[in-house]
Amino acid sequence: MNRVITIDGPSGAGKSTIARLVAERLGFQYLDTGALYRAVALYLRQKGLGEDVRDQEIASLLKGLILSFKDGKTFINGEDVSGQIRTPEIGHYSSVFSARRPVREFLLEIQRRFPEVQDTVCEGRDMGTVVFPGAWRKFYLDASEEERARRRYLQLRSAGKEITMEAALRDVRERDLRDSSRDVAPLRRAEDAIYIDTTSMGIEEAVKEILRHL
Ligand code: DC
Repeated sequence: MNRVITIDGPSGAGKSTIARLVAERLGFQYLDTGALYRAVALYLRQKGLGEDVRDQEIASLLKGLILSFKDGKTFINGEDVSGQIRTPEIGHYSSVFSARRPVREFLLEIQRRFPEVQDTVCEGRDMGTVVFPGAWRKFYLDASEEERARRRYLQLRSAGKEITMEAALRDVRERDLRDSSRDVAPLRRAEDAIYIDTTSMGIEEAVKEILRHL
């Protein structure tokens, strides 16, 4: 097994950009597991599923899904869906469907295959606790609720989307609650993860802090 670095934390803590840069500097591949959950959500939505669907139906639909992630791009049955998974709607449904057991079981195996090929930086919510409990190094990135809402607001505005600060804060709180209170693989810090608060840190500073620990 190659080396695995896990980076977990709530949405808006800066994980994706930081994890990608850490991977680049170290020559590791980067695995964005949020993108995998988003792709599953997009696929289930395309199949017409809503929030109240039964586990059995999810499990049977997932049998027809071939999911891949390569060079930062996400594919559903060979089609590049990297743009389509970055909408607020799919963000919402990825959080909803990620609480469902068949979805987590489906992605568990897929995620574990990545480090078989190459050293990997794995970013998500349960990398250090469930998917790679024996990882080489573990990090937990956090930031205050207000700062994470502010980042979400700026990100959506720069993408041309209409949103208010209040709505961004509400979104962040809702997502935190759902991601950390679910029964299967809830968001929590692994005991052996190094905690980094990025509230008043720039991206480069956070990357350096991680590299320093390595
Ligand atoms: O990091 P993100 O916003 O792209 O993740 C989308 C959703 O996927 C997030 O609300 C929770 C879920 N997720 C998860 O449950 N476990 C992971 N390892 C990664 C993401």
